[in-house]
Amino acid sequence: MRLDGKTVLITGAGSGMGRLACQVFASEAAQIVACDVSVDALNETVALVQGGGGSIIGVPADVGSADSVRAVVEAGVKAFGKLNVLYNNAGIFPDDDTSVIETEESVLQRVLDVNLKGVWNCCKFGIPELAKAGGGSVINVASFVALMGCTVPQDAYTASKGAVISLTRSLAVQYGPRGVRANAICPGPILTPLLEGLFPNEEEKLKRLNRIPLGRFGRAEDVVYAALYLASDESSWTTGTAFVIDGGITVNYF
Ligand SMILES: NC(=O)c1ccc[n+]([C@@H]2O[C@H](COP(=O)([O-])OP(=O)(O)OC[C@H]3O[C@@H](n4cnc5c(N)ncnc54)[C@H](O)[C@@H]3O)[C@@H](O)[C@H]2O)c1
Repeated sequence: MRLDGKTVLITGAGSGMGRLACQVFASEAAQIVACDVSVDALNETVALVQGGGGSIIGVPADVGSADSVRAVVEAGVKAFGKLNVLYNNAGIFPDDDTSVIETEESVLQRVLDVNLKGVWNCCKFGIPELAKAGGGSVINVASFVALMGCTVPQDAYTASKGAVISLTRSLAVQYGPRGVRANAICPGPILTPLLEGLFPNEEEKLKRLNRIPLGRFGRAEDVVYAALYLASDESSWTTGTAFVIDGGITVNYF
């Protein structure tokens, strides 16, 4: 019951870590406002949570669209009366995002629209609701790549996630006095559909695995339990952090 009485908005709820977060948070007694651009995937998440006895509504939306995000926030407040936590998890990692020299401007734009503007929009419309509720927690999903260089470049993605960390710090300073905390999570490689799409063969997979001191890829629950801590009152003095959950990659000088 770690989230009893809290309403949590989770974006990218149709897959991977977002879907698991809906299930885990609902099992901790949260009311969930789930959002995803993929309607079928979102409906599956809603059915899974309801099947487990959880309280959830699904609101399809592209987080890159300000009007759509405003509608998600309004739908959440209408259904549950308030918002206490924003879990800004939706993100993309397109194949055609490589080095700054090779990547098309349109790819950069697409990545920024989802990974940065998506977070921006949810904060823009969601933070006033958190403040109205007497305070709350913003959890923005960045990535370990925002903290280090990488020989296999994904420059638009990396830049977008770096911006998410910077924005998070600014939010922590601005809204702390109104009781709103803001933290980023920086996951390492987590075995979700997003990551699995990146390995063309076993050799490429091993190359990445060898860099992880803890000797395995992350699991969605490794990140979702960190988010659960940040969503709960257990983290009531934690703000402005970039919480690294990466099996040790970023401290490994290989
Ligand atoms: N998997 C990893 O290794 C890894 C590592 C570091 C950070 N991350 C970050 O974690 C977050 C979740 O990743 P995941 O691995 O669970 O991904 P995933 O691809 O399994 O799920 C992402 C979900 O976001 C949704 N989505 C995409 N664009 C959207 C949009 N415009 N509006 C609303 N929803 C949208 C997708 O439909 C999908 O359901 C992302 O922000 C990702 O960048 C992932």
